[in-house]
Amino acid sequence: MGYFVTGTDTGVGKTLIAAALMKHQAALGLRVAGMKPVASGCYPTAAGLRNDDAVALEHQATARHPYALVNPYAFAPAIAPHLAADAVGVTISMPLLIDAYQQLEEHSDVVIVEGAGGWRVPIGPVGLLSDFPETLGLGVILVVGLRLGCLNHALLTCEAILRGGKSRLVGWVGNGIDPAFSPLEANIATLERRIPAPCLGIVPPLTNVSVEAACTRLRLPVLAAVE
Ligand SMILES: Nc1ncnc2c1ncn2[C@@H]1O[C@H](COP(=O)(O)OP(=O)(O)OP(=O)(O)O)[C@@H](O)[C@H]1O
Ligand SMILES: [Mg+2]
Repeated sequence: MGYFVTGTDTGVGKTLIAAALMKHQAALGLRVAGMKPVASGCYPTAAGLRNDDAVALEHQATARHPYALVNPYAFAPAIAPHLAADAVGVTISMPLLIDAYQQLEEHSDVVIVEGAGGWRVPIGPVGLLSDFPETLGLGVILVVGLRLGCLNHALLTCEAILRGGKSRLVGWVGNGIDPAFSPLEANIATLERRIPAPCLGIVPPLTNVSVEAACTRLRLPVLAAVE
């Protein structure tokens, strides 16, 4: 069973929330794996290019998996994935991504997959990263970065996720990335009323950002048992 964590934008807290989801499910005794299918903004190591998001997800995994499964496509420049792939003459293969996911899933009760940017991110001339959860039928969890403009971004994203009927919107998490965002409660109430899926938690602006702190704010069922 797997879940795809998307966001209203880049930098809204997908990695923090995905890691917290993993920690939450691991604490319930489940075997949990993380995946970042496509990452740009990677740094060189002796073992090859590595990505901070993928490494953060690896930290929460209950077993070690080959990095090539956790993050099949790692690109150095911090630019849109299809442009980063183009720059090094790589074609992102959906079958390869799906095969990597299935290998992780084989050894896990839950796989938490972090997207890149928002929902409709191009990964080639035609392909979109949303083809990945749609092909696999993954449940989608939307991270809403709580800042001005998030109502529009959240509702557009929900519409796109539900369009075509291939993806299930499991729920959303509000993440306090802007301490000055106001009025917070009224905006959260608007999201609750208009997003056609349950709120799985509200993470406030954190002075010391930690996966533990985010994890305590999640209200989650056992994801392996959610259908
Ligand atoms: N609740 C919060 N309070 C304070 N800072 C936060 C909170 N959530 C996330 N941040 C900070 O915001 C930044 C962006 O978070 P994060 O990297 O998780 O976003 P992302 O959506 O995964 O970004 P990307 O699109 O690059 O993958 C990080 O520096 C993170 O520490
Ligand atoms: Mg991230």
